[in-house]
Formats: sequence, C-alpha cells, structure tokens
Amino acid sequence: MYGVLLIIATVIIIALSVAVYQKSTNAICISRRRLEGRTVIVTGGTAGMGLHIATDLAHRGARVIIACPFEDEGTNARKRIIQETENKNVSFKLLDLASLKSVRQFAADILKTEDRLDILLNNAGVGVPGDFLTAEKTHFIMQVNYYGTFLLTLLLLPLLMKTGKPGESSRIITTASFLHMIGKVDIENLNRTNYWNKVRIYGNSKICLVLFANELTKRLKDSHVVINNVDPGLVGTKIFDSINKVYGSIITLTFFLFFKTPWQGAQTALHAALDKKAGVVSGAYFMNCEIVGAIKRAYCDKTAKALWEDSVRLVKLTKDEVDLCFKSL
Ligand SMILES: NC(=O)c1ccc[n+]([C@@H]2O[C@H](COP(=O)([O-])OP(=O)(O)OC[C@H]3O[C@@H](n4cnc5c(N)ncnc54)[C@H](OP(=O)(O)O)[C@@H]3O)[C@@H](O)[C@H]2O)c1
Ligand SMILES: *[C@@H]1O[C@H](CO)[C@@H](O)[C@H](O)[C@H]1NC(C)=O
Repeated sequence: MYGVLLIIATVIIIALSVAVYQKSTNAICISRRRLEGRTVIVTGGTAGMGLHIATDLAHRGARVIIACPFEDEGTNARKRIIQETENKNVSFKLLDLASLKSVRQFAADILKTEDRLDILLNNAGVGVPGDFLTAEKTHFIMQVNYYGTFLLTLLLLPLLMKTGKPGESSRIITTASFLHMIGKVDIENLNRTNYWNKVRIYGNSKICLVLFANELTKRLKDSHVVINNVDPGLVGTKIFDSINKVYGSIITLTFFLFFKTPWQGAQTALHAALDKKAGVVSGAYFMNCEIVGAIKRAYCDKTAKALWEDSVRLVKLTKDEVDLCFKSL
C-alpha cells in the first residue's frame, strides 16, 4: 500500500518538477528578421512543431516548402498556412524519409525547380512506431529520423552552397532531442530488430543526427553553409501516440497540462533559423534558444567519421555522388 503511494507521489513530483523546469526555462525567438526573397524547406512542416515553424517563416515572407508522406495532410497544412499568413508562396511536396527513392525524388525535384535554398529545417521525425526494417533493410525509426535526413541534407547541399554568401550563410537546422543522451552509436547493430528497446533506438537516431552535424561542420569548413541541432524540450504533439494507445493518451494528457505547446516547442528551431549569431556557428546544439552542447560522446571525431562512412553506404551514395554533393550548383 505505502509502496504504491510512494510510487504515485514520486511520479507526481517528477512530473511537476519537469513541468516547472520546462515552463520556467522556455525561451521565445525574438528575431524580427524578414525573409522576402528567401526559400526555406521544413520537413514535417505539416503537423506538430513543424507546422508552427513553417507558419512563422511564411509570416516573414519566405517561400516555404513543406513536406510529409501524406498528400491530404500536406495540402490541408498548406491551405492553413496560406490562410493564416496571406503568403501564397507556400508549396507542399510529398516526401517519405522512410524511402531512399522518395528522398532522391524530392531532392531532384527541388534542385530542378528552386533556384535557391536559404534554410533547410530537418524537423520531421517519428517516435517509436515499431521495431521493424524498411525495404532497404535499415531500421524504420533510424531511417526516418536519421538516414533519410542524412541523405536529404547531402543531396540538397549543392543548392545550399550556391545560396550561402559571406555574411549570410545558408542554414541547416536539425531537430534532435534530449533523448540523444540515451543513444549509443554501436554501428554494427544500429539496424537490428529485437535487440534494442524502442526508445533507445529513438535515442540512437538522435545522437546520430548530432554526430552527423559535427562531421558535416568539418566537411563544410570552407563554405557558407552551417548546420546546427536544436532540442525542443518535451512538447505535446501526436508523436507520443506511437508509444501505445493507453500510455500515449496518459502522456499526451500530461503534456497538454504541463509541458510545452507545439508553438513553444518550435521556438528554438526558429531561433537557430533566424538569429544573427546562430547563423555564424556550426555544429552547435541549442536548447531554449541558447547553445548548450550535446552529450560528450556526441563529439567523438572517430565515431562521427565511422558513422558517416557507414551511412553513405546504407543510403547507397556512390563516391562520385558524394563528391558532387560538395560542389555548388
Ligand atoms: N514532441 C516532443 O516532445 C519532441 C521532443 C524532442 C524532439 N522531438 C522531435 O521534434 C520533431 C517534430 O516532432 P513533433 O513532436 O512535432 O511530431 P509530430 O507532430 O508527429 O510531427 C512530425 C512531422 O514529421 C512528419 N513525418 C513523420 N514521418 C515522416 C516521414 N517518413 N517522412 C517525412 N515526414 C515524416 C510528420 O508527417 P505526418 O504527420 O504526415 O506523419 C509530421 O509532419 C521530430 O524530429 C521529433 O523527434 C519532439
Ligand atoms: C516566391 O518566393 C521566391 C523566393 O523567396 C521569390 O523569388 C518569388 O518572387 C516569390 N514568388 C511570388 C509569386 O511571390
């Protein structure tokens, strides 16, 4: 009896502490920068935090391209953004990060139709929908959150490089998570099923994103393209539905009561996309609109390089293709 009460009391105390911490530290992007003449892509800009990010950027006058795997959701989101912002320069394009073919088609379409890309917001991600492999034999969670984003970013680099100028670098912003802290980069086993706890796989995908940003920062040293990670905090979105119905509902209810709203969760990504100082750093990890740094093992050069090489192999990029990714259009 006392045991149960103790557990309940502990859970309530932890929830309240997290809630108080989140609410008291949440920062808001205060940049007034306008984006007329600029083009931005927001992956997953159709729901959750991505929709708020895309709407904010559309308010600032940018051409905004949102992308997700579902036509209906995408066209509805586009309508909503246009209605709310009166900026008609908003497009929706299909993109399924779970499929290498879809990522390649999306990137080829962008390179063909857009003449610039100022900001790439790699916001799309899944929670823990399951423990299975994609057709390409990568783990589904890893593929959507990490490999798909890795391939997309590399394929869009030539356009980002063309757009970036001294004094105004083009920016890549990737949404990581505090759960990168439980991630382990065990390269041989990253794509195994029935091996990891699903939340751990999510953590693995997020620490891989941080290592990717660090490795890419090195490789982009002499260009005008920066890449930074953002950690939105705990945010009440549908991402938690993937845990399971009962826990998902309990967690979602808790989040709506205590934790950040999607608009609040979007603020750090917006800060990294707009703030002047955030445009001159690369490989930084932001939380609450401040550079805080990720966990120490996310800065291991050797791991970052090994992960890069293995990722190039898994997304099936040839050496010549990788070289082309680093040539401005
Ligand atoms: N919520 C949190 O507490 C939290 C904490 C830390 C980090 N994050 C990260 O924040 C980012 C945004 O998450 P959110 O909480 O806003 O979740 P969300 O509401 O579920 O939004 C996720 C977005 O990603 C898109 N997406 C999912 N699978 C995709 C795929 N295969 N290809 C392309 N797009 C895909 C979704 O499109 P559909 O709706 O069409 O599936 C949706 O637009 C994610 O990277 C997440 O990992 C969230
Ligand atoms: C759409 O945005 C692009 C890039 O910002 C700009 O060059 C173009 O003129 C805009 N088109 C319209 C119709 O506003």
